[in-house]
Amino acid sequence: MTRRTLVVISAGLGQPSSTRLLADQLAAAARDELVRRGAEVEVRTVELREHAHDVVNHLLTGFPSAALREVLATVTGADGLIAVTPIFNASYNGLFKSFFDVLDREALADRPVLIGATGGTARHSLALEHAVRPMFGYLRAAVVPTAVFAAPEDWSGEGDESALRARIRRAGAELAEQVERRPAATGPADPFALTTSFEQLLAGRDPS
Ligand SMILES: Cc1cc2nc3c(=O)[nH]c(=O)nc-3n(C[C@H](O)[C@H](O)[C@H](O)COP(=O)(O)O)c2cc1C
Repeated sequence: MTRRTLVVISAGLGQPSSTRLLADQLAAAARDELVRRGAEVEVRTVELREHAHDVVNHLLTGFPSAALREVLATVTGADGLIAVTPIFNASYNGLFKSFFDVLDREALADRPVLIGATGGTARHSLALEHAVRPMFGYLRAAVVPTAVFAAPEDWSGEGDESALRARIRRAGAELAEQVERRPAATGPADPFALTTSFEQLLAGRDPS
């Protein structure tokens, strides 16, 4: 049985967070489909608000804290990523963008990614297509075709709940299929691994 890791990134700021709720439902859909296809699945969820200060410090200093380094390694070692942001000013929020700004630019190349967003109005659902998808395109991720947006009426019962559920199922199945097509990831990279030999460090030489 192939072991797969799904990493869920939620950039919601509220507590409770509708973004986290959507992220959990997307993760469950992708996990269920992978399990149906015979995989053993581990889901790891990252609430970015818990790492917000570390993300800003990383932007300012160029160095991650130990906790953030571990999160970045977890994302880098995932078989599939579920990335969900609240829409702020018709785009992803600053925390979401900043997190992907500190992630290595090669980390998501050819990595299956499912994108989702929550917002105060369904009129902004296309922010997923004009803002979130292009960012992952730049990072050369394999973003699945179905992106999922949830508006307040989807949670209050006034919207078409079955349509949202169907969209979540379809997006989860698309992610599972992309994950299954690829060899299993090797897991989180060792965040403390040396990329420079001691000789190079002593000589003050940068190998790159
Ligand atoms: C500063 C700010 C800007 C926002 N801008 C938008 C927007 O442009 N479009 C939209 O649909 N919702 C907007 N919202 C509403 C949030 O997207 C919405 O409340 C979100 O679902 C909250 O997610 P959370 O519960 O996970 O924190 C904005 C909220 C804030 C605080």
